[in-house]
Amino acid sequence: MIRRVAVLTSGGDAPGMNAAIRAVVRTGIIHGWEMFGVKLGYEGLISGKIIPLGARDVGGILQRGGTILGSARSLEFKTEEGQRKAIRSLNENGIDGLVVIGGNGSQTGASALYKLGFPVVGIASTIDNDLVGSEITIGVDTALNIALESIDRLKITASSHQRAFLIEVMGRNCGYLALMSAIAGGAEAVVLPEVETDPEAIARRIRDAYDKGKAHAIVVVAEGATFNATKLEEYFGQHQERLGFAIRSTILGHVQRGGTPSAFDRILASRMGAAATEQLAKGKPGYLMGLIKDEIRATPYDDVINGKKPLDPKMIELQKLLD
Ligand code: F6P
Repeated sequence: MIRRVAVLTSGGDAPGMNAAIRAVVRTGIIHGWEMFGVKLGYEGLISGKIIPLGARDVGGILQRGGTILGSARSLEFKTEEGQRKAIRSLNENGIDGLVVIGGNGSQTGASALYKLGFPVVGIASTIDNDLVGSEITIGVDTALNIALESIDRLKITASSHQRAFLIEVMGRNCGYLALMSAIAGGAEAVVLPEVETDPEAIARRIRDAYDKGKAHAIVVVAEGATFNATKLEEYFGQHQERLGFAIRSTILGHVQRGGTPSAFDRILASRMGAAATEQLAKGKPGYLMGLIKDEIRATPYDDVINGKKPLDPKMIELQKLLD
């Protein structure tokens, strides 16, 4: 029987993590559990940074980006010794259930803890949207909207100066953010890690926009693509005149992770948080909670860790049709 449950956030922060913490704590209290927060992800778990969390401690955080618990990327936790230290720390604090809010690396760590015998449930949260077990993860919607606002702004200055902009978005090895930003931002081209891209093909798209009489060209580039924005700019540097437009590049970087979570992310996080405590209460740890066909469903950790989420080929085609 569960009595004391801890929640932690790990890996890159994502807007909406706080809403998930709040939902886990408040629904856990309804189950009659004592609730705790782990500071600084797995790093804090290893060193025992565990604090009690009451209903009021998670008041006023729903609308805040980032994570009130802090996050970290822990090298030590990647080792079995680190994972065993983490379990020791949970046991010393009398914790008998853990909720891990995070992306791919964090859920791989959670799965390792589960395999070592600790009851863990995951919540899919990363701006990269690269997690099997959730069609969309917490933070993606907000990050996408931040990227779009930047694209809209860059289009204005690009038009004023008749320029082509290479706009690099985050996503690690996943092109989801880039593809969706390109469709919603009306980009002329997109460069994705999942699709081998010849820089000459991008050059042709830019030239084509120029020849059509467009005032600018926008190329959204995923940071994980072989030709990221820096490499593409270098490549075009030697052959710029044939593009028609002069080239500039902007790397959006961590700006996409900040900001106020959108309504979608707050609601998604609240649903996943409540579902995670329900999953623990049912005595079924070892699953990731995610959004599948509009429902919050549980996917076994083995499927999450060993799977790879592909991009929707129909979306790739749609982007090409609308440039
Ligand atoms: O996983 C989220 C993410 O923002 C990726 O898109 C990006 O590649 C990475 O984290 C950046 O990591 P860090 O915040 O450690 O620089």
